[in-house]
Amino acid sequence: MRYHRWLLGVALLTACGPRVEATVIEAMPDGDVVAEGQKLYEKYCKLCHAEAGRGYASDNANQLANPEFLSTASDAFLMLAVDQGHPGTPMGAYGESFGGPLSHVDERKLVLYLRSLQTKPTAKLVTGAAQGDVARGATIFQEQCSSCHGDKAQGASAVSLNNPVFLLSASDGYLRYAIEHGRTGTPMPAFQGEFVPQTIEDVTSFLRSLARNVESAPRGEVPPSFENAVIHPSGPDPNFPALREGRFLPAAVVKEALEKGAKMVLLDARPTSEWLNSHIPGALPVPYYDPDRMTAKLPRDGTWILAYCGCPHAASGHVVDTLRGQGFPRTAVIDEGVFEWVRRGYPITYGRAQPLGAPP
Ligand code: HEC
Ligand code: HEC
Repeated sequence: MRYHRWLLGVALLTACGPRVEATVIEAMPDGDVVAEGQKLYEKYCKLCHAEAGRGYASDNANQLANPEFLSTASDAFLMLAVDQGHPGTPMGAYGESFGGPLSHVDERKLVLYLRSLQTKPTAKLVTGAAQGDVARGATIFQEQCSSCHGDKAQGASAVSLNNPVFLLSASDGYLRYAIEHGRTGTPMPAFQGEFVPQTIEDVTSFLRSLARNVESAPRGEVPPSFENAVIHPSGPDPNFPALREGRFLPAAVVKEALEKGAKMVLLDARPTSEWLNSHIPGALPVPYYDPDRMTAKLPRDGTWILAYCGCPHAASGHVVDTLRGQGFPRTAVIDEGVFEWVRRGYPITYGRAQPLGAPP
């Protein structure tokens, strides 16, 4: 038995207060942990981050094998992202304590697998808080960065930069390095030649100003059973229109059918932890990585079975493909995904922990 020691960010970070990290020591079973990490990666992560961490299999899931990323992201950074996810983005929480499928040992195996993909030596990051002007940085951000990262840094074609879990684990040195050196093989340019050092400080200070507290309380609710899978079991058939591309239904159509009391099954294809945070009322957690759960007890009598996720299609599409492969006759993907559903103010059930970004 080998013992591994690693840092795991477990506590809160106020806007610019000290990072609080705990040292976790856990036993790592002997054996080829990298190969085991790869298996976990293929089951849980490849759907979005692509084979071998090449990135962008779905939406804006970044390149985990990127040389600049791996040379600057610490093990604690990677662990925290996997454990807690990036709330409000398709990156779910996978940690058991958040209702996800992975133990700390599994997460550590994943990190060791990601490390095995690292091709550049660990970078020396400049320490110390950025000494920039937030307002100047905000202007530069709008001009130079928002087209890819979104006007509020909430993410667009590129990853979000305002995510509390991200900003908890990314030091100012990490942010500076990404801005200076960019990310080889991705659209992220290196701004080293273009920006004077003060401009890099300004943008870094602006990003730091977006940090918020992380709600890190574990959620312990138990998902419901399949017995009550059908919503409105004695309601009418929803009479859905023809599916776009044979698979997609607009969110508005689904919402209207639910209001009319139509009969259907809704499956939340995200990690269970995300279902615990918030879900469409009546939806069952059927994560994309759990095929047994998908097909075990769902009705085969022609009741519509709709899946959704946040991606907006990757995980739900995978669930629907699995159901179709098993002969379920009427299945569809909710086209716009759950974030758009929430944005439009459609009904949502919130779990015990109020998620970040939830309406008050
Ligand atoms: C449903 C799609 C999806 C799945 C599945 C997924 N991710 Fe992600 N992941 C994302 C997206 C999208 C982001 C960027 C989030 C953001 O914009 O903040 C991300 C971000 C990350 C980050 C942070 C990267 C950074 O630069 O800050 C890490 C680390 C990560 N994912 C690892 C994993 C691992 C390991 C797994 C498997 C256990 C996994 N992801 C599964 C979509 C996914
Ligand atoms: C043309 C699109 C584009 C522009 C413009 C752009 N970025 Fe990026 N940026 C990206 C992409 C794509 C990534 C993720 C690359 C990957 O997969 O590793 C990224 C990654 C980053 C990261 C690392 C995030 C993480 O999770 O590790 C930071 C920090 C960043 N960008 C800051 C900036 C800033 C600041 C600017 C403006 C000065 C900017 N970017 C402009 C596309 C862009």
